[in-house]
Amino acid sequence: MNQDEMKKQAALAALEYLPDSGIIGVGTGSTVNHFIDALEPIKGRFEGAASSSEASTERLKAIGIPVIDLNAAGELEVYVDGADESNRQLHLIKGGGGALTREKIIAAASKKFVCIADETKLVDVMGKFPLPVEVIPMARSYVARELVKLGGTPVWREDFITDNGNIILDVHNLEIMEPARLETTINQIVGVVTVGLFAHRPADVLILGTPEGPKTIKP
Ligand code: 5RP
Repeated sequence: MNQDEMKKQAALAALEYLPDSGIIGVGTGSTVNHFIDALEPIKGRFEGAASSSEASTERLKAIGIPVIDLNAAGELEVYVDGADESNRQLHLIKGGGGALTREKIIAAASKKFVCIADETKLVDVMGKFPLPVEVIPMARSYVARELVKLGGTPVWREDFITDNGNIILDVHNLEIMEPARLETTINQIVGVVTVGLFAHRPADVLILGTPEGPKTIKP
């Protein structure tokens, strides 16, 4: 079974966590794309979806699911999204697709965060995947210098602008032993919009696609 098949398996397994009606939160990425495809046959159940990116918004609209402004949606029952890395406490690294800020907002506004991924995303220590940090453009060099002081090697994701008009620094060479602490520290750097560490608001359920079938992990 290849990685994409494992992503699809996790995406399909997430359907059982969906409410019978209402508005659901939908993330971004190739795993979520499988999830969106799987929503089509059951789309009549939902009033609509709050989307974490322009890319997912387009995909949701293409299959006829109304996209609802989070400000009008109230608290969401469930948010389904992927991840670039997860540890066993379900702290995550997210933002490989650059949608980390809206993803973090929707995760915060949801009662349950169901994370879907293939088994390669589960790690003992996070940081092998470069940590995305969304930054106000004029603060790029300053924030990069501060990230170097924390032991990382920030690399500007050139030719990429987020849906919010900002830039991304991908921080390499981090070994993240205390995810919540590092999340707080990076959040304090002036000019940082969002750090792609989801430790203060981790996932509630992680569904991993594996060759043996979907595996569910709860902290
Ligand atoms: C986008 C994300 C994605 O969830 C993450 O990059 C995983 O992507 P994929 O499902 O394509 O492996 O955080 O900002």
